[in-house]
Amino acid sequence: MTETLVFASAVDPIAPWRTALEALLPDVRVRAPEEIGPEDDVRYALVWKPPAGFFARHPGLRLITILGAGADALVGRDDLPDVPVARLSDPEMARMMTHYVLFAVLRYARDIPAFEAAQRAGRWHYLHPREAREIRVGVLGLGDLGGAAARELARQGFAVSGWSRTPKDLPGLTSHAGAAALLPFLGQADILVVMLPLTPETRRLIGPREIAALPPGAKIVNVSRGPVIDEAALVEALRSGHVGGATLDVFEVEPLAEGHPLWGMENVLVTPHLASVAIPASAARQIAHNIRRVWEGLAPEHRVDLARGY
Ligand code: NAP
Ligand code: GLV
Repeated sequence: MTETLVFASAVDPIAPWRTALEALLPDVRVRAPEEIGPEDDVRYALVWKPPAGFFARHPGLRLITILGAGADALVGRDDLPDVPVARLSDPEMARMMTHYVLFAVLRYARDIPAFEAAQRAGRWHYLHPREAREIRVGVLGLGDLGGAAARELARQGFAVSGWSRTPKDLPGLTSHAGAAALLPFLGQADILVVMLPLTPETRRLIGPREIAALPPGAKIVNVSRGPVIDEAALVEALRSGHVGGATLDVFEVEPLAEGHPLWGMENVLVTPHLASVAIPASAARQIAHNIRRVWEGLAPEHRVDLARGY
């Protein structure tokens, strides 16, 4: 019997998902919410920030898949049915994130912002290159995407350490875990890469005290969620120079408001939340695999723990 997957996203076009999923699952129709009719047996949802009340319209759901890695937009909704929620865990998504992080870290490691400023001033400004192993990169969050980026940074020769809730054994990097380890960890991060999920525990985790713990002139790369960092404290630290530069893909409020101080800061690079996106051709395989598991009465993989928040 044919079943329906409802697809809801304001940013991802449905067409490539429909093509990829229907090719893998001939018995599943992929429909936008406005295409759903009485003949549809809606069993699966693939969503990115669906509107309020969305889930209540589909009482037959058996699996919800987030069209991304972060679950924060679903956690705490009052219309979530009691069915498993899975996130994407896709190697191509990890590759795209790794590229962004590598770009941002290399840009600081090779002093590119200083050369960009010097060029604007028409000034020849020699800074002797540092070796990668002299540069300490701290990665907050060593999950699917954070772990992949941290491993690649280590492979490139940086002195990488990571911080997570539980200790990790990742090749080439030092693992730190737990709240007590955070401040000493930050004290050794010349470049801090933030890759934590947004949860009640991580909201504003990086505040004035944590920023003060960074070495003077440290750089910050935030590709997780804006509210993990206290944005006002970050702006203040960027103004004082205690934080020497920031590459920010995510913000407390998105889109970043017109006139926000971050727009005009020389030492800040703003990108519009696209460090990594869901890629239909590869992620569809994971989604189809999970749907088949549901058919077989098995638990889906890459399930989100809604109580934990990620
Ligand atoms: P993940 O697989 O869920 O891993 C999360 C990591 O954070 C884990 O290592 C976890 O520790 C650690 N963590 C969580 N809460 C913690 C706490 N309170 N203290 C210390 N460590 C904690 O996440 P991911 O796939 O790497 O993705 C990270 C985030 O990136 C996503 O949640 C999303 O918000 C963001 N993201 C952004 C973009 C973008 O385009 N900007 C794209 C995709 C994802 P344990 O391993 O010990 O559990
Ligand atoms: C994007 O921000 C994601 O969480 O996948």
